[in-house]
Formats: sequence, C-alpha cells, structure tokens
Amino acid sequence: MKKTFCMALLATLLMAGCTATDEAVTADNNPVIENILSRRSIRSYKPDKIEREKLDRIIECGIWAPNGQHRESWEVRVVTNPDMLAEIDSLYNIYSNGSNSRAAFGAPAVAFIAYDTTYDLSQVDCGLLGGNMMLAANSMGIGSCCLGGLARFMTSPQAATLLARLDFPDTHRLLYAIAFGYPNETPAPNGRRTDNVRIIE
Ligand SMILES: Cc1cc2nc3c(=O)[nH]c(=O)nc-3n(C[C@H](O)[C@H](O)[C@H](O)COP(=O)(O)O)c2cc1C
Repeated sequence: MKKTFCMALLATLLMAGCTATDEAVTADNNPVIENILSRRSIRSYKPDKIEREKLDRIIECGIWAPNGQHRESWEVRVVTNPDMLAEIDSLYNIYSNGSNSRAAFGAPAVAFIAYDTTYDLSQVDCGLLGGNMMLAANSMGIGSCCLGGLARFMTSPQAATLLARLDFPDTHRLLYAIAFGYPNETPAPNGRRTDNVRIIE
C-alpha cells in the first residue's frame, strides 16, 4: 500500500514536471527565443579574456549546426593570441587609411570561418555554424559581431601573410569573421522589416 502511494506520488510529480516543461517550450517567455531576440551585434568589448571552457562550448555549439550532407564543410580558426590580434589591428588600420578603427573592435577572440569552394552549399554551412556560435555566446553573456569587412581585408593582398597563418587548406576560402568578447555596450535593437517575408497558405 505504502509502495503504491509512493508510486502514485512520483507519477504526479513527474506529470507536474512535464506540464511545467511543456508550458516553458510554448510560452512567450521561452528562454531559447529570448536568447535569439536579445542578441545584438557588439562593437565595443571589455579586454577580459573569454574563459576557455566557455570558448570551447561556443565552438561545440557551432559545429553541432546542421550541415549539408554532413560534410562539416567549414574550416574554423579562433584567434585569441593577443600578439596576432594586435598585428591584424595594425595592418587593418593601414588598410583602412589610418582611420584608427580596430579590426574586431578590440574583441579578445576572433573566429575566422572559411568555406569549401568545392561544395556549392558550404556557405550555408558556415552561416549556420556562426549563428549557433553567436547565440551560444549570447546565452553566456558573451557578445559577438559578424565581420564581413575584416574578411575582405584578410583576403586582400596586403594581408596575405596573416591569412597564411590561419592555414586554411587550398580548397577553402575565408568567408567571414566573428568577434567574441564581453560587451562594453548595450546597443538598442536594430529592428526588422517583415514585408520581405510571406507565409503562403
Ligand atoms: C554577413 C555579415 C557581415 C557583417 N559585417 C559586419 C562588419 O563588417 N562590420 C560590422 O560592424 N557589422 C557587421 N555585421 C553586423 C550587421 O551589421 C548586423 O548584424 C546588423 O546590423 C543587424 O544588427 P544586430 O546584429 O544587432 O541585430 C555583419 C553581419 C553579417 C550577417
């Protein structure tokens, strides 16, 4: 009898748990959705390093992105070496005509993502990888910013030696970079248009 009561209590508790979970995944306060909607491009960073376990987690979330034919067609290099980041900064500054702009806004970690030129959907893989990385970072209070401009610079003749140090295979071409670091600003949302999206029902 006592055993039956315990089983019934356990079942009730489990059901209560399930209900709570079901509500969490469908409700407006869904933490995953909150994380997606709270991410902003960060263009000012604190100098603090990202803890290695958090960086590893960000990378792990990146490589768990869906990818075409499960080719994992990206090549990723995450630079945290301060000397190399400073070198990139100083060359970038010359490239951008001494505008004193920093290549990655002073972020302590920069991911360089290259796509496989022999696979037509590799750029999709790379975009999904980066999206996962930025959302994982945001969930841990770490800011990020996609950097198309930095990739343009890194693939310019002026940056050839820097690009070589990233050691991408000949089959791959740098597509974009992502800055990661603790935010030193809280930008307002940019807003989104919706007229370019339609549901056809
Ligand atoms: C492919 C791509 C390239 C980007 N390149 C740059 C860049 O070079 N510099 C920059 O400051 N922001 C860059 N961004 C960030 C966008 O400007 C930003 O995502 C957009 O303004 C929307 O703002 P939000 O990310 O805060 O929502 C890039 C974003 C993407 C997706």
